[in-house]
Amino acid sequence: MRDWIEGDNINYDYILRYIRETLPKSEGLLLEMEEYAKENGVPISQPESIRFLEIIIKIANAKRILEVGSAIGYSAIRMSKATGGCVTTIELSDDMADIAEENIKKAGLSEKITLIRGDGREVIPEIEGEFDLIFIDAAKGQYQEFFNEAKRLLRVGGILVSDNVLFKGMTATDELVIRRKITIVKRLREYLTMLKENKDFATALLPIGDGVAISVKEN
Ligand SMILES: C[S@@+](CC[C@H](N)C(=O)[O-])C[C@H]1O[C@@H](n2cnc3c(N)ncnc32)[C@H](O)[C@@H]1O
Repeated sequence: MRDWIEGDNINYDYILRYIRETLPKSEGLLLEMEEYAKENGVPISQPESIRFLEIIIKIANAKRILEVGSAIGYSAIRMSKATGGCVTTIELSDDMADIAEENIKKAGLSEKITLIRGDGREVIPEIEGEFDLIFIDAAKGQYQEFFNEAKRLLRVGGILVSDNVLFKGMTATDELVIRRKITIVKRLREYLTMLKENKDFATALLPIGDGVAISVKEN
């Protein structure tokens, strides 16, 4: 039987298993949230992706973070804890947002994490201020729209992290593309091409988790 998180794996299983053995073990609330996600099919970030994000946040000492796609609040809590920074996180589903709010409260982070309910495409234009890091982890077919609205909020030198951009390898090769995902794959490819050609951003694409694009705003 496949491991719950390995369904999205784009790397060799033995490499992934080894990498996961090197990660710090979760405990307490975070472990409970991981178990909840597994039991209920909530797609929280893969362990190596969220670890990568925490390290980036620590290196950059990012204290003002914007996230599109909170789900149950797992990555928002981990990102806030990485440097003790503030996270504004947006969630479309009311059911997810209810659970996220409860988890944020349990984590004692209600002062640090602000959850905004709604569609990122409508909510982001209303947000003011400046962010050190933006994490896009919501509907994959909408990344371009999130980016269009969010880029003005990122400070020059700030970091954009886009998760799941290799989408089980489908973005990289037509051989893996399943019919009902064609539109999403097309949009992800267009999104990555836009990032590659964008003169204001420098981007690296990494085969971590389900594929992570990390970009820095240069102008
Ligand atoms: C992959 S999950 C987020 C996982 C979370 N970042 C984590 O790692 O713990 C994606 C979430 O984005 C939400 N979502 C989808 N489209 C959205 C949109 N347009 N605006 C805001 N949230 C959206 C979904 O309801 C879902 O909960």
